[in-house]
Amino acid sequence: MSRSKAQRVGVVGATGLVGREFLDLLNRRQFPIAQLRLFASGRSAGQRVPFQGSGVLVEDLTQADPSGLDVVFFSAGRSVAHQYTPRFTEAGAVVIDNSSAFREDPQVPLVVPEVNAGQLRASSSRIIANPNCSTIIMLLPLAPLYRAFGIQEIVVSTYQSVSGAGQAALDDLLGQARAFAQGEQETWTHYDRPIFLNLIPRIGDWTEDGECLEERKLARETWRILEDDTFPIYATTVRVPVERCHSESIFLRTKRDVTTREVVAVLEDAPGISLLDLPTPRELARREEVFVGRIRVDSQDPHVVRFWVVADQLWKGAALNAIQIAEQLIDMGRLSS
Ligand SMILES: NC(=O)c1ccc[n+]([C@@H]2O[C@H](COP(=O)([O-])OP(=O)(O)OC[C@H]3O[C@@H](n4cnc5c(N)ncnc54)[C@H](OP(=O)(O)O)[C@@H]3O)[C@@H](O)[C@H]2O)c1
Repeated sequence: MSRSKAQRVGVVGATGLVGREFLDLLNRRQFPIAQLRLFASGRSAGQRVPFQGSGVLVEDLTQADPSGLDVVFFSAGRSVAHQYTPRFTEAGAVVIDNSSAFREDPQVPLVVPEVNAGQLRASSSRIIANPNCSTIIMLLPLAPLYRAFGIQEIVVSTYQSVSGAGQAALDDLLGQARAFAQGEQETWTHYDRPIFLNLIPRIGDWTEDGECLEERKLARETWRILEDDTFPIYATTVRVPVERCHSESIFLRTKRDVTTREVVAVLEDAPGISLLDLPTPRELARREEVFVGRIRVDSQDPHVVRFWVVADQLWKGAALNAIQIAEQLIDMGRLSS
């Protein structure tokens, strides 16, 4: 593995929750950087963001020259990705996008490196899509179990932290907690009701069949990444008043009989996973792994496996997964510097 080739790197959405984690992780992982450029909306243009001892200027995306970059990490939402990605790819960069803009495009690889890095070798696309955060987190334990035992059906309920919806949602939660503690009137802008001391069983718009978009994404992206849509996925996605890290309760019906010992053995050997008795979100922020606990096979039905998963969605569900994709591209000689 050679990561010596320093890259000219762009981060679009650099002032947002995910964008700031990109900067932290690029630094922590010693990603080889020859040049770093940051982009956001006109609201943030002109700010300087600290990175490795200097202040990097935030450029207005609408005015920026897209040329001269090797890899650009986008985390600025779907419509920004649709509008601005072509400018960077036509100027020669590879774009790794965190939004849902390209996830269903068959020409664009949708990649979790531990699960389907082969998609990067099979495609010459200059756009790579990062899957939805809850999909990535579910797939780390799901993919090795699918390969070992086969899957008949999945029932998943998510408990998704407020930072998963961006800075405005996080401001709502923390503002309401402060107001509550001080006996003041709570206010909210991101949701249509308070999220503090509450939970909201809807993430994203409603679909025509009574689901919400997050539930649809979780199913469709999982089928696409595993290249198998022959089993149903019944998802319920819930926003909870947790600051950071998503949790998921997963029920699998496997194709063959299994034991808890066999399930544990498969997960112990799987990349990117750490087993814990009782993973909880507050303790696991800024950790790279996906944590799996409460693993049990039903005593009456040896096809039923249940477990609990927690991971930092700002890291493995977003910035870390995208950086790992870029690291793979460097190792494959796919980035140009
Ligand atoms: N939060 C998560 O856990 C998570 C996980 C996976 C994927 N994602 C995806 O990542 C993306 C960003 O999420 P986030 O949580 O970081 O949101 P956020 O905290 O609201 O940040 C949004 C970022 O996008 C920039 N932006 C907004 N409109 C723009 C425009 N018209 N032109 C240029 N830049 C613009 C903002 O710049 P200003 O500061 O100038 O407004 C800010 O830097 C979304 O697509 C989201 O679905 C998020």
